[in-house]
Amino acid sequence: MSPSSPPLSSKIRVLDGIQPSGIAHLGNYFGYIRPNVQLLGKGEIFLMVADLHALTTVRDPAILSQARRDVATDLLACGYDPDRGTLFYQSDVAVHSELSWILSTITPMGLLERAVSYKDKVEKGIAASVGLFTYPVLMAADILLYDATLVPVGRDQKQHVEIARDIAVKFNSMYGETFVLPEALIGEDTAAVLGTDGQKMSKSYGNIIPIFGEEKAIKKAIMGIVTDSKDVAAPKDPETCTVFRIHKLFLSKEESNALADRYRAGGLGYGDAKKLLFETYLDHFGGMRKKRGELVKNAGFVEEVMRAGAVKAKKIAEATMERVRGRVGL
Ligand code: ADP
Ligand code: TRP
Repeated sequence: MSPSSPPLSSKIRVLDGIQPSGIAHLGNYFGYIRPNVQLLGKGEIFLMVADLHALTTVRDPAILSQARRDVATDLLACGYDPDRGTLFYQSDVAVHSELSWILSTITPMGLLERAVSYKDKVEKGIAASVGLFTYPVLMAADILLYDATLVPVGRDQKQHVEIARDIAVKFNSMYGETFVLPEALIGEDTAAVLGTDGQKMSKSYGNIIPIFGEEKAIKKAIMGIVTDSKDVAAPKDPETCTVFRIHKLFLSKEESNALADRYRAGGLGYGDAKKLLFETYLDHFGGMRKKRGELVKNAGFVEEVMRAGAVKAKKIAEATMERVRGRVGL
C-alpha cells in the first residue's frame, strides 16, 4: 500500500487483550470475559491472549505455556464463539513487535513515566525491565494494528488505552492519518469486582472466587466472604455488603431489587445469603464448568482454534503494518 492510500474503515472494531496470568476469577469473568462474549455480533471483534506482555512478569516457560492455553480454554468454555470473533495468541502475529518498535521511537519518555501501572508493578517488586516500562507501547501496537475503535478494559487499564490514543494522535500528526483513535469501553457496574475481603478482587490479594476448579474450594471462598457481625434478624444494608455486591453481578435489575429487599427486611442471615450466592454461582457457571472439562480433554481443538485465529488476525494486522511502513519510509 502506498503512503497516501486512504486508511481505515468506519466500522465498529473491538480489540481486547488478556494477559495469561493464572487462574480465572469472578473479576476476570465480569471484567473482560462476559463483556467480550456479549460483544460478539456487535461489530468485528478481536480478542488476543497477550502472551508477549506476560513475559514481563512470568519467567517460567512451563507456566507461561500452560497459562496461555488455559486462558484460551477459559474463554471458549465461557461461550466465546471463534466463528463470530477472532481469538488468537499475540505472539503468533509478529507485526505486534514490529509496530511496537516503530511506535516506541515516537513515544515521549514522559508519557510512559506517567503510567501508574508501571510504578505500581515496580512497587510490588516486579523487576523494572525495559519491557515492563514500554509495556503500554506494545499495548498501543496491539490496539492500533486492528483499527480498533473500542477497547473493553477494566478501570486499571484505562490509562493504557489513553496512552495508545496519544501515541496514535502523535503518529498521525507526524506522518499523516494512519491510525484510528481508540476509546476505552468500561462497564460501570463491573469496573471493580470486589473480592472476599471487600477489596478489589485480585490474585495478588488472595481474595479471589475462581470460576473453574474444585467446587469445594469455591464454596469455601464464598462462605469466607467478610461481613459485619449483624445477627440474622437485623436489617442489613445491601449496598455496603460484599456478599450482595458480588451476588448482584449475576442478577437482572428486578432480581437484584428483590434480593436487596430481603437484606433490608431482616431475617436473612449472612450464612444463608452466602448459600444463595453459591447456588446462583453454580447455576451460572455449571454449563461452562462442564464445557471446560471437555475442552481440557481436547487440547488439539483449542490449539486449532488459535491457529485459525492467528491467520485471520494476520490479514488485518499485516495490512496495517504495510501502511505504517509506507508512512515512515521503510
Ligand atoms: P489479577 O488482579 O487477579 O492479577 P488480572 O491482572 O489477571 O487480575 O486481570 C486481567 C483482566 O481482568 C484485566 O483486564 C482487569 O481489568 C480485569 N480484572 C481483574 N480483576 C478485576 C476486578 N476485580 N474487577 C473487574 N475487572 C477485573
Ligand atoms: N494490559 C492488559 C491487561 O493487563 C492486557 C492487554 C494487552 C490489552 N494488550 C491489550 C488489553 C490491548 C486491551 C488491548 O489486562
